[in-house]
Amino acid sequence: MATLVELARSHTRLTTDDAVHLQRLAAAWGMLADLCFADLLLLAPVAGEEGHRFVVLAQVRPTTDQTLYRDDMVGTIVDEVERPLIARVWRIGEIGVGDAAVIGQTGERANVQAIPVRHGGKVVALLTREAATTTGRRLGELERVYFEIFDRFARMLYEGTFPFKGGALVPEESPRVGDGVLFLDTDSVVRYASPNAVSSLHRMGIHANAQGQRLSDVGLDDDAVRTAFAAAAPVTEELEWGDTSILLQVIPLLEDGTPNGALLLMRDVSELRRRDRMLLSKDATIREIHHRVKNNLQTIASLLRLQGRRLSSPEAKQALEESVRRIRSIALVHETLAYEAGNTVPFGEIIRPLVRVVEDGLISPDRHIRFVVEGDPGDLPAEVATPLAVVLTELLQNAVEHGFPDNGSGETREGWVTVRLVREDDEAVVDVVDNGVGLPPGFSPETASGLGLSIVRTLVQSELAGEITMKTDGGTRVHLRVPIANAPRVERQ
Ligand SMILES: Nc1ncnc2c1ncn2[C@@H]1O[C@H](COP(=O)(O)OP(=O)(O)OP(=O)(O)O)[C@@H](O)[C@H]1O
Ligand SMILES: [Mg+2]
Repeated sequence: MATLVELARSHTRLTTDDAVHLQRLAAAWGMLADLCFADLLLLAPVAGEEGHRFVVLAQVRPTTDQTLYRDDMVGTIVDEVERPLIARVWRIGEIGVGDAAVIGQTGERANVQAIPVRHGGKVVALLTREAATTTGRRLGELERVYFEIFDRFARMLYEGTFPFKGGALVPEESPRVGDGVLFLDTDSVVRYASPNAVSSLHRMGIHANAQGQRLSDVGLDDDAVRTAFAAAAPVTEELEWGDTSILLQVIPLLEDGTPNGALLLMRDVSELRRRDRMLLSKDATIREIHHRVKNNLQTIASLLRLQGRRLSSPEAKQALEESVRRIRSIALVHETLAYEAGNTVPFGEIIRPLVRVVEDGLISPDRHIRFVVEGDPGDLPAEVATPLAVVLTELLQNAVEHGFPDNGSGETREGWVTVRLVREDDEAVVDVVDNGVGLPPGFSPETASGLGLSIVRTLVQSELAGEITMKTDGGTRVHLRVPIANAPRVERQ
């Protein structure tokens, strides 16, 4: 579906600045639809046919009443024959009301109010309020007050002072009309408190009847309101009272640019905050677990090492040494996870420690092998990082062990092993290259019978759904591609 800005670009002569202003309106106008219990449409004139045809740029339904527009109206073109009212309001630039056809539904009528939306001194669009034709029912107090507030916003749209510039709240957190409304006059006296607002006040220990009193007199901190009046801009604040957290959003109602009253939306976010805190402590618990897993793995590695020292068979000694190495590389990943929020590992930071694990195990330390680390694949999910750490250890170990065999001549070859890890789109690409003797004749990675490569094969192909290629190229070059997209993506907080 086309965005508002795209629609404006393709159908209208609105400038980008105008379109951004309208987008800001569309981000905030759920509140307006709720206040007037009706659908809202945002229309702008079609380029070259100004005043005759209009395109619907955005639509919002009320959460406080039924909708007239079950279908998506965005992108619909409306002309002056179907809607003479909007053509007239566009021409004269004044708010107009009237009875009009429900767009696209023959026979159905709506009660329509069309409001010019001004930006940069000129009318750039029309906002229409589309309500079911009234049944003559008498309005309750809440409805009367909400309509009055809506009319104040209509005036601000007309004067070009709404929407406000600057960032809004996190949209999913910002309070809605249904969460609780206080309507304040210029002196911060509460003219109206909705039932939900009264409940929120009760939860904050305020039992006095707020209506007709100043906020400060009923015991509510009115800093936010004073700031909003002074700045003529919305202010958001969170008040805490024991376990209760109330999110306040103060929206000053302007007349000729000067605040005259305010709408105060309040939402009880206690439950939300409680869940935030729980998640935080869950995160801390998970990190603690990783820490313990790492410690346990290190203990196991030490036990095996001790046991290896007591063995006399060189083959058995070596087998245990290799296990120690594998376990240490897994421990490294857990150690990193213990310090990271979330479930991702900054893999670039553990490549060097992994290299060190292999270096430590070099049989004769006088062998000159240089390790070079290049690239950084960024954050990898733990599900990828753990197997990949083990795979890298095996490949490094093989390079050292088979690339530069000790031929007993005492000749030392100037060797190097390069590890290169980068991220290409949604793949981690790994190269382990050495300048050693190369692979034995007739070698195939698929049939190689050693334990090392079968671990590598299992992890890369089965667990990570990746690919391995190995070839002799000067020394040995191992190339891996591992998809990261399949693994559950965990956003960093
Ligand atoms: N970088 C390399 N240079 C030369 N040969 C290699 C290299 N990597 C692997 N090979 C060859 O592949 C064979 C299989 O390797 P693999 O890791 O599976 O077993 P291994 O190293 O012999 O034993 P293990 O890893 O179980 O201790 C090796 O024996 C070696 O011949
Ligand atoms: Mg090996």
